[in-house]
Amino acid sequence: MSSASLEIGSSLDACLAQAVAADGTLADVAKVIAACAAAAIAVSEVIGRGALAGDLAAQGEQNSDGDVQKFLDVLAHERFTEALRGAPVAEVASEEAEGVMLLNAGAPLAVAIDPLDGSSNIGVNMAVGTIFGIRPTASSPENPLGSFTGPGTLQLAAGFVTYGPATSFVLTLGDGTQIYTLDREQRSFRLTHPRIEVVAAAKEYAINASNARHWDTPVKAFIEDCLRGAEGPLDKDFNMRWLGSLVADAQRVLLRGGVFLYPGDNRKGYAQGRLRLLYEAAPIAMLMEQAGAGAIDGERRILDIGATGIHERVPLIFGSMDDVACVAKYYGGRNAAAGRSPLFGQRGLMRG
Ligand code: F6P
Ligand code: MN
Repeated sequence: MSSASLEIGSSLDACLAQAVAADGTLADVAKVIAACAAAAIAVSEVIGRGALAGDLAAQGEQNSDGDVQKFLDVLAHERFTEALRGAPVAEVASEEAEGVMLLNAGAPLAVAIDPLDGSSNIGVNMAVGTIFGIRPTASSPENPLGSFTGPGTLQLAAGFVTYGPATSFVLTLGDGTQIYTLDREQRSFRLTHPRIEVVAAAKEYAINASNARHWDTPVKAFIEDCLRGAEGPLDKDFNMRWLGSLVADAQRVLLRGGVFLYPGDNRKGYAQGRLRLLYEAAPIAMLMEQAGAGAIDGERRILDIGATGIHERVPLIFGSMDDVACVAKYYGGRNAAAGRSPLFGQRGLMRG
């Protein structure tokens, strides 16, 4: 979608129609996005009722990752997969299903989805979300995961929904990142941010600092230097935010800049961090890059990484380009004597 020509206030449907008129190959992708938007509105209405809708955090079974599913996890998974069944989608890889779900045999598209991101925020009136990436169907009997094992550069579109004070639909079709805001009276998303440009550097970082003792040397070194503020080599005072909801942190980064880190750490099962490559890191990375920001695992670009399984995890660092480049330098120096490159001992590292 050429976001340059999109008019603020236009409905998502109108913007999708415009994109398809300009490029007919987007017709199926647009149908999938419209299906996701319809499901998002339904889920948003349940979340918006809060406790009046029942106990949204009521616990059920364990999901594929060993997390206990909550009522809202299951509801969102069902609403989104039902909606995708009515779209040209052959396969779905959902956080809430162990294997690939087969929807419409022969359909051209495959969707990786985290139906309800930020589960720990359910039931306490905090922001949660949905994340999705759309890929061409590429599986075969010999390669049943084929639609999902390729790198994130294969994504045709990606988006996330933030169910916060307002409900937002953040979208890229590979030509810029836009944000649509739910008009609750009209029950439709309207364009509010046509072409997001993330600032190159900012003074905010997001990390779950309670894991500090488990981090490896590059992350420890970077955060220590953030804490040293203007008196340290980064030469600026920082603020810290951690919302416990990837979508909400990502939306803040898109609008205000800064850097988000969920690195690998030494806790059992956390060597690759917590976040999932297919339905968390890869869509967020595409949205970031399309907004002029970056996303890496420390050393590699997230969008270049292929998966071996649908629930694979990856360390995730994304945000303002210069800030992400700065973190990458700490990873680059990881083998230096005493765990720190002399480069990082100098004031003014990030000034040049
Ligand atoms: O989906 C995983 C998730 O809930 C993200 O939304 C969030 O960023 C992260 O986990 C929070 O993890 P932790 O509870 O370890 O801080
Ligand atoms: Mn999630």
